[in-house]
Amino acid sequence: MSMQINMFEKKQFVKEIQEKDPVASPFLVKLSAVATDKNGKPYLNLIFMDKTGEIEAKVWEDIPAHMGQVVKGAFVYVEGKCKTYQGRKQVQISKMQILREDEVDISLYLPESPCNVESLYAQLVQFINAMQDPHYRALAKAVFIDDEEIVLKLKKAPAAKSVHHAYPGGLLEHVISVTKALDFFSKLYAPYLDRDLLFLGGFLHDIGKLWELSYDRVTDYSFEGKLVGHLVMGVELVERKINELEKKENGLPGALPGAFPAEKRIFVFPKEKKILVKHMILSHHGELEFGSPKRPKCLEALVVHSVDNLDSKVNTIRTFIEQDQTPGRWTGLNKSFERYFYKPDWVYASKD
Ligand SMILES: [Fe+2]
Ligand SMILES: [Fe+2]
Repeated sequence: MSMQINMFEKKQFVKEIQEKDPVASPFLVKLSAVATDKNGKPYLNLIFMDKTGEIEAKVWEDIPAHMGQVVKGAFVYVEGKCKTYQGRKQVQISKMQILREDEVDISLYLPESPCNVESLYAQLVQFINAMQDPHYRALAKAVFIDDEEIVLKLKKAPAAKSVHHAYPGGLLEHVISVTKALDFFSKLYAPYLDRDLLFLGGFLHDIGKLWELSYDRVTDYSFEGKLVGHLVMGVELVERKINELEKKENGLPGALPGAFPAEKRIFVFPKEKKILVKHMILSHHGELEFGSPKRPKCLEALVVHSVDNLDSKVNTIRTFIEQDQTPGRWTGLNKSFERYFYKPDWVYASKD
Protein backbone atom coordinates (compact mmCIF):
# COMPACT_ATOMS: atom_id res chain seq x y z
CA MET A 1 0.00 0.00 0.00
CA SER A 2 1.42 3.39 -0.91
CA MET A 3 1.89 5.92 1.81
CA GLN A 4 -0.40 8.94 1.87
CA ILE A 5 1.76 12.00 1.11
CA ASN A 6 0.96 15.43 2.41
CA MET A 7 2.10 17.71 -0.41
CA PHE A 8 2.45 20.78 1.77
CA GLU A 9 4.43 19.34 4.60
CA LYS A 10 8.15 19.99 4.39
CA LYS A 11 9.87 16.86 5.59
CA GLN A 12 12.70 16.51 3.12
CA PHE A 13 15.32 19.25 2.80
CA VAL A 14 17.81 19.91 0.00
CA LYS A 15 20.83 19.28 2.19
CA GLU A 16 19.73 15.74 3.07
CA ILE A 17 19.01 14.61 -0.49
CA GLN A 18 21.61 12.09 -1.67
CA GLU A 19 22.23 10.44 -5.01
CA LYS A 20 19.58 7.83 -5.90
CA ASP A 21 17.22 9.12 -3.18
CA PRO A 22 13.55 9.40 -4.08
CA VAL A 23 12.41 13.03 -3.85
CA ALA A 24 8.94 13.95 -2.60
CA SER A 25 8.75 17.44 -1.19
CA PRO A 26 7.65 21.01 -1.77
CA PHE A 27 10.31 23.55 -2.87
CA LEU A 28 10.58 27.21 -3.80
CA VAL A 29 11.51 27.80 -7.44
CA LYS A 30 14.66 29.91 -7.63
CA LEU A 31 15.11 29.72 -11.38
CA SER A 32 13.04 28.46 -14.26
CA ALA A 33 14.22 28.59 -17.87
CA VAL A 34 13.39 26.74 -21.07
CA ALA A 35 16.35 25.32 -22.98
CA THR A 36 16.76 22.95 -25.91
CA ASP A 37 18.87 19.81 -26.12
CA LYS A 38 21.17 18.85 -29.03
CA ASN A 39 18.22 17.54 -31.02
CA GLY A 40 16.21 20.72 -30.57
CA LYS A 41 13.87 19.21 -28.00
CA PRO A 42 12.77 21.73 -25.35
CA TYR A 43 13.25 21.01 -21.67
CA LEU A 44 12.80 22.95 -18.45
CA ASN A 45 15.87 23.89 -16.43
CA LEU A 46 15.01 24.53 -12.79
CA ILE A 47 16.71 25.38 -9.53
CA PHE A 48 14.76 24.57 -6.38
CA MET A 49 15.59 25.96 -2.98
CA ASP A 50 14.70 25.69 0.69
CA LYS A 51 16.34 27.01 3.83
CA THR A 52 19.14 24.44 3.59
CA GLY A 53 20.30 25.00 0.03
CA GLU A 54 19.64 24.67 -3.67
CA ILE A 55 19.29 21.78 -6.08
CA GLU A 56 19.01 21.62 -9.86
CA ALA A 57 16.19 19.86 -11.65
CA LYS A 58 15.13 19.06 -15.18
CA VAL A 59 11.75 18.39 -16.78
CA TRP A 60 11.61 16.68 -20.15
CA GLU A 61 7.88 16.15 -20.65
CA ASP A 62 4.83 18.44 -20.87
CA ILE A 63 6.97 21.57 -21.10
CA PRO A 64 4.20 23.92 -22.34
CA ALA A 65 1.97 22.90 -19.42
CA HIS A 66 4.61 23.84 -16.85
CA MET A 67 6.08 26.93 -18.50
CA GLY A 68 3.70 29.66 -17.37
CA GLN A 69 3.21 28.10 -13.93
CA VAL A 70 6.54 26.92 -12.63
CA VAL A 71 8.04 30.38 -12.48
CA LYS A 72 10.65 31.99 -10.23
CA GLY A 73 9.21 32.57 -6.76
CA ALA A 74 6.51 29.87 -7.08
CA PHE A 75 6.09 26.99 -4.65
CA VAL A 76 5.89 23.52 -6.17
CA TYR A 77 5.42 20.01 -4.88
CA VAL A 78 7.87 17.70 -6.63
CA GLU A 79 8.27 13.97 -6.97
CA GLY A 80 11.25 12.36 -8.66
CA LYS A 81 14.66 10.92 -8.12
CA CYS A 82 18.06 12.44 -7.37
CA LYS A 83 20.91 11.78 -9.78
CA THR A 84 24.39 13.20 -10.06
CA TYR A 85 25.33 15.01 -13.25
CA GLN A 86 28.77 16.62 -13.77
CA GLY A 87 29.43 16.54 -10.05
CA ARG A 88 26.15 18.19 -9.12
CA LYS A 89 22.99 16.72 -7.72
CA GLN A 90 19.97 16.96 -9.96
CA VAL A 91 16.34 15.97 -9.52
CA GLN A 92 14.80 14.04 -12.40
CA ILE A 93 11.18 15.06 -12.01
CA SER A 94 8.30 12.67 -12.55
CA LYS A 95 5.53 14.78 -11.03
CA MET A 96 5.23 18.46 -10.25
CA GLN A 97 2.34 20.50 -8.92
CA ILE A 98 1.96 24.19 -8.11
CA LEU A 99 1.15 25.09 -4.49
CA ARG A 100 -0.47 28.24 -3.18
CA GLU A 101 1.57 30.53 -0.96
CA ASP A 102 -0.82 30.11 1.99
CA GLU A 103 -0.30 26.35 1.85
CA VAL A 104 3.35 26.54 2.87
CA ASP A 105 5.43 27.95 5.72
CA ILE A 106 7.58 30.45 3.80
CA SER A 107 10.31 30.55 6.47
CA LEU A 108 11.25 26.94 5.64
CA TYR A 109 12.21 27.99 2.12
CA LEU A 110 14.29 31.14 2.60
CA PRO A 111 18.02 30.64 3.11
CA GLU A 112 19.27 30.84 6.65
CA SER A 113 22.20 33.11 7.23
CA PRO A 114 25.35 31.16 8.09
CA CYS A 115 26.77 34.26 9.80
CA ASN A 116 26.01 36.05 13.04
CA VAL A 117 24.85 39.39 11.64
CA GLU A 118 24.65 41.13 15.01
CA SER A 119 28.28 40.41 15.83
CA LEU A 120 29.34 41.41 12.30
CA TYR A 121 27.49 44.70 12.70
CA ALA A 122 29.17 45.30 16.07
CA GLN A 123 32.55 44.84 14.35
CA LEU A 124 31.54 47.41 11.72
CA VAL A 125 30.69 49.94 14.45
CA GLN A 126 34.07 49.27 16.06
CA PHE A 127 35.90 49.98 12.81
CA ILE A 128 33.94 53.24 12.40
CA ASN A 129 34.73 54.35 15.95
CA ALA A 130 38.43 53.75 15.29
CA MET A 131 38.48 56.17 12.35
CA GLN A 132 40.57 59.31 12.85
CA ASP A 133 39.58 61.61 10.00
CA PRO A 134 36.58 63.63 11.21
CA HIS A 135 34.96 63.98 7.78
CA TYR A 136 35.36 60.37 6.75
CA ARG A 137 34.14 59.21 10.16
CA ALA A 138 31.10 61.52 10.03
CA LEU A 139 30.18 60.08 6.63
CA ALA A 140 30.57 56.46 7.81
CA LYS A 141 28.49 57.18 10.89
CA ALA A 142 25.74 58.90 8.91
CA VAL A 143 25.43 55.91 6.58
CA PHE A 144 26.00 52.90 8.84
CA ILE A 145 24.88 54.01 12.28
CA ASP A 146 22.36 56.86 11.93
CA ASP A 147 20.41 55.61 8.89
CA GLU A 148 18.00 52.99 10.23
CA GLU A 149 16.84 51.83 6.81
CA ILE A 150 20.42 51.08 5.79
CA VAL A 151 21.19 49.23 9.05
CA LEU A 152 18.10 47.05 8.60
CA LYS A 153 18.85 46.27 4.97
CA LEU A 154 22.51 45.57 5.69
CA LYS A 155 21.58 42.85 8.16
CA LYS A 156 19.50 41.07 5.50
CA ALA A 157 21.25 41.67 2.20
CA PRO A 158 23.24 39.07 0.27
CA ALA A 159 26.36 40.26 -1.56
CA ALA A 160 25.31 38.79 -4.89
CA LYS A 161 22.52 37.04 -6.73
CA SER A 162 24.36 33.74 -6.97
CA VAL A 163 28.12 34.14 -7.11
CA HIS A 164 29.73 35.08 -3.80
CA HIS A 165 28.24 35.50 -0.30
CA ALA A 166 24.79 34.80 -1.78
CA TYR A 167 22.92 34.45 1.53
CA PRO A 168 21.27 36.87 4.00
CA GLY A 169 23.94 38.88 5.79
CA GLY A 170 26.43 37.94 3.06
CA LEU A 171 27.08 41.55 2.11
CA LEU A 172 27.90 42.48 5.71
CA GLU A 173 30.16 39.43 6.03
CA HIS A 174 31.96 40.46 2.84
CA VAL A 175 32.32 44.08 4.05
CA ILE A 176 33.83 42.98 7.38
CA SER A 177 36.18 40.48 5.78
CA VAL A 178 37.38 43.12 3.26
CA THR A 179 37.79 45.73 6.00
CA LYS A 180 39.87 43.37 8.18
CA ALA A 181 42.22 42.80 5.25
CA LEU A 182 42.37 46.55 4.58
CA ASP A 183 43.27 47.14 8.22
CA PHE A 184 46.16 44.69 7.78
CA PHE A 185 47.38 46.27 4.54
CA SER A 186 47.23 49.78 6.02
CA LYS A 187 49.89 48.61 8.52
CA LEU A 188 51.90 46.56 6.04
CA TYR A 189 52.25 49.48 3.65
CA ALA A 190 52.38 52.26 6.26
CA PRO A 191 52.76 55.19 5.89
CA TYR A 192 51.67 55.15 2.27
CA LEU A 193 48.01 54.33 2.72
CA ASP A 194 45.25 56.41 4.33
CA ARG A 195 43.53 53.87 6.57
CA ASP A 196 40.31 55.87 6.90
CA LEU A 197 39.93 56.20 3.15
CA LEU A 198 40.62 52.46 2.81
CA PHE A 199 37.95 51.75 5.43
CA LEU A 200 35.39 53.87 3.58
CA GLY A 201 36.25 51.94 0.42
CA GLY A 202 35.65 48.68 2.29
CA PHE A 203 32.37 49.82 3.85
CA LEU A 204 30.92 51.60 0.83
CA HIS A 205 32.19 49.86 -2.31
CA ASP A 206 29.15 47.55 -2.57
CA ILE A 207 26.62 49.65 -0.61
CA GLY A 208 24.58 50.16 -3.80
CA LYS A 209 23.78 46.44 -3.65
CA LEU A 210 21.29 47.19 -0.85
CA TRP A 211 19.08 48.53 -3.65
CA GLU A 212 20.62 46.86 -6.69
CA LEU A 213 19.29 43.52 -5.52
CA SER A 214 15.81 42.63 -4.32
CA TYR A 215 16.02 39.89 -1.74
CA ASP A 216 12.63 39.50 -0.07
CA ARG A 217 12.22 35.99 -1.43
CA VAL A 218 14.31 34.99 -4.43
CA THR A 219 17.31 37.27 -4.88
CA ASP A 220 17.23 39.14 -8.17
CA TYR A 221 18.27 42.45 -9.67
CA SER A 222 15.89 45.35 -9.04
CA PHE A 223 14.75 47.67 -11.82
CA GLU A 224 17.28 50.31 -10.73
CA GLY A 225 19.92 47.62 -10.28
CA LYS A 226 19.48 46.50 -13.86
CA LEU A 227 19.56 49.98 -15.34
CA VAL A 228 21.94 51.89 -13.03
CA GLY A 229 23.98 49.33 -11.07
CA HIS A 230 25.62 49.32 -7.64
CA LEU A 231 28.67 51.44 -8.45
CA VAL A 232 26.71 54.48 -9.60
CA MET A 233 24.02 53.87 -6.95
CA GLY A 234 26.74 53.91 -4.27
CA VAL A 235 28.10 57.23 -5.56
CA GLU A 236 24.60 58.71 -5.53
CA LEU A 237 24.22 57.67 -1.89
CA VAL A 238 27.53 59.32 -0.96
CA GLU A 239 26.45 62.54 -2.67
CA ARG A 240 23.10 62.52 -0.85
CA LYS A 241 24.58 61.71 2.55
CA ILE A 242 27.22 64.44 2.30
CA ASN A 243 24.53 66.96 1.28
CA GLU A 244 22.46 65.95 4.31
CA LEU A 245 25.49 66.26 6.60
CA GLU A 246 26.29 69.72 5.32
CA LYS A 247 22.72 70.86 5.93
CA LYS A 248 22.55 69.41 9.41
CA GLU A 249 23.64 71.66 12.24
CA ASN A 250 26.59 70.00 13.88
CA GLY A 251 26.46 67.34 11.16
CA LEU A 252 30.10 67.84 10.42
CA PRO A 253 32.84 68.31 12.96
CA GLY A 254 33.54 71.93 13.83
CA ALA A 255 30.10 73.25 12.96
CA LEU A 256 28.82 75.00 16.05
CA PRO A 257 25.04 74.95 16.39
CA GLY A 258 23.61 78.27 15.31
CA ALA A 259 27.05 79.75 14.76
CA PHE A 260 26.32 80.60 11.16
CA PRO A 261 23.17 81.06 9.18
CA ALA A 262 22.78 78.13 6.79
CA GLU A 263 23.91 80.09 3.72
CA LYS A 264 27.12 81.19 5.43
CA ARG A 265 28.08 77.93 7.06
CA ILE A 266 31.72 77.36 6.24
CA PHE A 267 32.18 73.80 7.40
CA VAL A 268 31.67 71.69 4.35
CA PHE A 269 32.86 68.23 3.41
CA PRO A 270 36.13 68.92 1.57
CA LYS A 271 35.55 68.47 -2.14
CA GLU A 272 38.74 66.52 -2.75
CA LYS A 273 37.86 64.00 -0.03
CA LYS A 274 34.37 63.59 -1.46
CA ILE A 275 35.79 62.85 -4.90
CA LEU A 276 38.30 60.36 -3.47
CA VAL A 277 35.47 58.48 -1.71
CA LYS A 278 33.48 58.36 -4.95
CA HIS A 279 36.56 57.09 -6.78
CA MET A 280 36.93 54.20 -4.30
CA ILE A 281 33.43 53.04 -5.28
CA LEU A 282 33.66 53.69 -9.01
CA SER A 283 37.01 51.95 -9.49
CA HIS A 284 36.51 48.88 -7.31
CA HIS A 285 35.83 46.50 -10.21
CA GLY A 286 39.33 47.34 -11.41
CA GLU A 287 38.90 47.34 -15.17
CA LEU A 288 36.56 49.05 -17.60
CA GLU A 289 35.37 45.67 -18.93
CA PHE A 290 34.33 44.61 -15.42
CA GLY A 291 32.00 47.57 -15.04
CA SER A 292 34.26 50.19 -13.50
CA PRO A 293 34.01 53.53 -15.30
CA LYS A 294 37.47 54.41 -13.88
CA ARG A 295 40.41 52.14 -13.11
CA PRO A 296 42.01 52.62 -9.65
CA LYS A 297 44.06 55.81 -9.71
CA CYS A 298 45.26 56.02 -6.13
CA LEU A 299 46.92 53.37 -3.97
CA GLU A 300 43.91 53.03 -1.66
CA ALA A 301 41.59 52.31 -4.59
CA LEU A 302 44.02 49.72 -5.94
CA VAL A 303 44.18 47.96 -2.58
CA VAL A 304 40.38 47.99 -2.13
CA HIS A 305 39.95 46.53 -5.61
CA SER A 306 42.50 43.77 -4.99
CA VAL A 307 41.13 42.80 -1.58
CA ASP A 308 37.52 42.85 -2.86
CA ASN A 309 38.49 40.64 -5.78
CA LEU A 310 40.33 38.19 -3.51
CA ASP A 311 37.56 37.98 -0.91
CA SER A 312 34.81 37.37 -3.44
CA LYS A 313 36.87 34.69 -5.24
CA VAL A 314 37.80 32.87 -2.03
CA ASN A 315 34.14 32.76 -1.00
CA THR A 316 32.95 31.65 -4.46
CA ILE A 317 35.51 28.86 -4.83
CA ARG A 318 35.17 27.68 -1.24
CA THR A 319 31.40 27.35 -1.68
CA PHE A 320 31.86 25.59 -5.02
CA ILE A 321 34.28 23.03 -3.51
CA GLU A 322 31.98 22.50 -0.53
CA GLN A 323 28.92 21.82 -2.69
CA ASP A 324 30.63 19.65 -5.30
CA GLN A 325 29.49 16.01 -5.25
CA THR A 326 32.16 14.42 -7.45
CA PRO A 327 33.79 11.54 -5.58
CA GLY A 328 37.55 11.80 -5.05
CA ARG A 329 40.02 14.63 -4.81
CA TRP A 330 38.85 16.79 -7.72
CA THR A 331 35.70 18.81 -8.29
CA GLY A 332 33.71 18.80 -11.51
CA LEU A 333 34.54 21.54 -14.02
CA ASN A 334 33.96 25.06 -12.75
CA LYS A 335 32.73 26.91 -15.83
CA SER A 336 33.41 30.46 -14.68
CA PHE A 337 36.98 29.72 -13.56
CA GLU A 338 37.51 27.18 -16.39
CA ARG A 339 39.26 24.64 -14.17
CA TYR A 340 38.87 21.77 -11.74
CA PHE A 341 39.62 22.41 -8.08
CA TYR A 342 41.44 20.17 -5.63
CA LYS A 343 39.36 19.04 -2.65
CA PRO A 344 41.38 19.07 0.56
CA ASP A 345 40.59 17.21 3.78
CA TRP A 346 38.29 19.90 5.21
CA VAL A 347 35.72 19.12 2.51
CA TYR A 348 35.28 15.63 3.91
CA ALA A 349 35.64 16.66 7.55
CA SER A 350 32.69 19.07 7.26
CA LYS A 351 30.43 16.39 5.72
CA ASP A 352 30.69 13.99 8.65
FE1 LIG B 1 31.04 45.40 -6.54
FE1 LIG C 1 32.66 43.66 -3.06
